[in-house]
Amino acid sequence: DEADPLASRLAAAERLARTAGNNARTFFLARDTLNPELKSASQDLVSEADRTVEAWLRRAIRRRFPQDGIVGEEEAATEGSSGFVWVIDPIDGTMPFLVGQPNWTVSIGIARGDAPVVGVVYAPMLRECYSAAEGGGARLNGCLLTMNPDWSVASTTIGFGATQKADPSEAGAFVEALYREGGVLFRVGSGALMLAYVAANRIAGYYDPTLHCWDCWAGMILVREAGGVVTFEGDLGQPGPIWAGNRRVHDQLRRLSRATP
Ligand code: IPD
Ligand code: CA
Ligand code: CA
Ligand code: CA
Repeated sequence: DEADPLASRLAAAERLARTAGNNARTFFLARDTLNPELKSASQDLVSEADRTVEAWLRRAIRRRFPQDGIVGEEEAATEGSSGFVWVIDPIDGTMPFLVGQPNWTVSIGIARGDAPVVGVVYAPMLRECYSAAEGGGARLNGCLLTMNPDWSVASTTIGFGATQKADPSEAGAFVEALYREGGVLFRVGSGALMLAYVAANRIAGYYDPTLHCWDCWAGMILVREAGGVVTFEGDLGQPGPIWAGNRRVHDQLRRLSRATP
């Protein structure tokens, strides 16, 4: 295994994402029996599905890679000694999940030091598995992804992830600036899936004023390996803003997001 630590972890991450996704799907099909609880604000929910799938993932990762650290949304971080940290979101898109939309994912990223080196984003209801490892390209169900290098923010829609917790006037200023530039908004309630869509040329770029590492760690390596550019100003401990696209769109989104109300 340790002969190729990235390849063995990519293969394991894909298997775990698929099994976790199938477990989550069972909860999804019976979602009317879940009693979700509010977390920090309205529309910020957690259910037995999120907790059970994360606990299962943590057990499976510890069994296979006992020296690796784990950071995830629903439980406290655990440290490791190998230099690798798994960065997991058992269900990214809890809101779409709970209301029956298919656009939710299991997101499994891996950090070596501060850098994302492996990413798997699995969308069970869409039957799509996005995967990437450093230096090996990004794939959708096994097919290589290459981002369009020529697009601007006006070429096709732009993902915008602001939640109800965003500053309303900053969110408004970004939307206004984007539309002045000929851009149009797109949103699904999974940051991981929006980054995967950037890698797959389904949207031209993505901006979110605040994400946690578990929302974006896997998606960052997907975008980079597909030839794109990502800046995340958070880290494994702190949330922060994220911009993704080809070089041109990334730079345009950075500028537009600084428009002042
Ligand atoms: C959320 C999704 C959403 C993003 C939020 C996240 P969750 O994650 O990624 O797209 O805008 O900031 O919290 O709570 O559904 O895992
Ligand atoms: Ca959540
Ligand atoms: Ca999330
Ligand atoms: Ca989540």
